[in-house]
Amino acid sequence: MVSGLMLKCDDVGAQHSSLCEIITVTVVSGDPHLTTFDGRPFSFQGICWHTLFKDCSSSNPAFEVTTEFEPREDSTFEHVRSRTVSVNVTVGSDFAIINGLDVVTGRTDGHVTAARPIHVLEDDKTVTLSFTSKDTTFTLYWTLKKHSLRVSISGSDYRGHLCGLLGNDDGEPLNDFITPGGAVVHDAAEFGKSWRVEWKKCE
Ligand SMILES: *[C@@H]1O[C@H](CO)[C@@H](O)[C@H](O)[C@H]1NC(C)=O
Repeated sequence: MVSGLMLKCDDVGAQHSSLCEIITVTVVSGDPHLTTFDGRPFSFQGICWHTLFKDCSSSNPAFEVTTEFEPREDSTFEHVRSRTVSVNVTVGSDFAIINGLDVVTGRTDGHVTAARPIHVLEDDKTVTLSFTSKDTTFTLYWTLKKHSLRVSISGSDYRGHLCGLLGNDDGEPLNDFITPGGAVVHDAAEFGKSWRVEWKKCE
């Protein structure tokens, strides 16, 4: 499991100078052991759809990423273990939904535009989705067979303005368990449950 800050540098050519930026990396593994953007690890065995992270800077979020957890085969009645099976990335009216090996993209308003805000890159092992909002680029790496998801953030406009299972990204791990109502809780299960997407039915 990886979490924390990473320095990412792109060679910008001619003068061999590099453009470096600090990115936050966080991991949601197949078996939902999650690490918030601020590095707080917790285990949450919920099932169904939950908000992983979204824009909380306004009441009309610019983006939202939700994931579906489903029970694993080794679950028992007393102890449900779950894994990540689908991811829904929505930016404005564009969406990309990863379901196992398939990626479906589209627009909720049905319009077709050439410039898509969500970039999708696929190879036989990974699906990489990225989108940019204000100065910030969010990149999700989905490892197909392992059902593992890694999220990286580069930019600062949303620092402290995110919410969801991955916390607020303000640099302080202790206040990461914030419910949709704004309460800071201490119990991982209560926190996790609070981010369940209520209107979404799941099998
Ligand atoms: C994906 O998420 C967006 C925003 O949360 C939601 O409006 C949309 O209905 C979701 N799509 C599906 C297929 O659940």
